[in-house]
Amino acid sequence: MDLSRTTEARAGARGQVGTAAAPLGVARSSSSTLRGSTVVRPAPAHAAPGSSSWTPPPHLVDSTLRALSELALRLRRLRADVPETRAEASAIVRMSALTIRDAVAADAAAIATLQNALLATTAIEWTDTPHTVESRVAWIRAHQHEGAVLIAEEGGEVVGFAAYGDFRDSVRWPGYRFVVENTIHVRRDRWGTAVGRTLMEALIAHATAAGKHAMVAAVTGDNQASIRFHERLGFVEVARMPEIGAKHGRWLDLVLLQRRLDDRPAPPA
Ligand SMILES: CC(C)(COP(=O)(O)OP(=O)(O)OC[C@H]1O[C@@H](n2cnc3c(N)ncnc32)[C@H](O)[C@@H]1OP(=O)(O)O)[C@@H](O)C(=O)NCCC(=O)NCCS
Repeated sequence: MDLSRTTEARAGARGQVGTAAAPLGVARSSSSTLRGSTVVRPAPAHAAPGSSSWTPPPHLVDSTLRALSELALRLRRLRADVPETRAEASAIVRMSALTIRDAVAADAAAIATLQNALLATTAIEWTDTPHTVESRVAWIRAHQHEGAVLIAEEGGEVVGFAAYGDFRDSVRWPGYRFVVENTIHVRRDRWGTAVGRTLMEALIAHATAAGKHAMVAAVTGDNQASIRFHERLGFVEVARMPEIGAKHGRWLDLVLLQRRLDDRPAPPA
């Protein structure tokens, strides 16, 4: 979010009002550049500016008109910035209304929409088959049994979800019962607005409270956004498996990132 841009625009326009307007009557032969616009300052001709007999020479009239029209243009741009500033401000307000809650079966459609949105165009998920609502209902149930599915909701709309479940089958291989694997998706128009961080912090707190010792993210090698995101959340790359996946006619690497959740020196008996 770039609030500084509008602030700068406003300061620039303000500077132009104060600086460009004043020198027009100053008797000094020079020209200067103010934020890209040149203001010509005339030398005194036959009479001093301000005297009753003084008639502005044509080039001064021209430069005055040019300066005024530039000023008007800047003011128009400034006015155009105002709605954007309001939109940015309301985005901040919306952020404060973000709710994190447990998923219910009725969230299955929203989860499917979020996942399917990137299926055809990215290799984030290693399948081409769109998720159905029914499959997501079953997925929510399974993940809630093994861990959790959390929903980020804003103004009644689902804007993201995060979940964790078994890393590997912990019933068959109980040695894995203290490690979980996470997944996360944020609606594209909300990327970069801390929805992901809010979800992940809640997910990590949930897993820690459930007695888990480590969380693993399995990320496609070229999904730099997710790798950086997980690193910012305290995950560390622990493995990179070259060319073990395939989608869209190319090999895919898998990156495993791991985050320790507690400091227990040994697993409970
Ligand atoms: C990856 C994803 C979940 C990030 O969610 P987000 O809401 O945009 O992330 P946030 O705004 O909460 O950012 C949290 C941190 O990650 C960093 N981050 C997020 N996206 C980043 C990017 N593209 N590049 C670098 N860093 C990034 C932010 O700088 C931020 O750091 P900070 O909080 O320490 O300042 C989101 O982009 C997404 O849903 N992507 C598509 C699905 C996907 O790839 N899921 C992961 C599958 S493994």
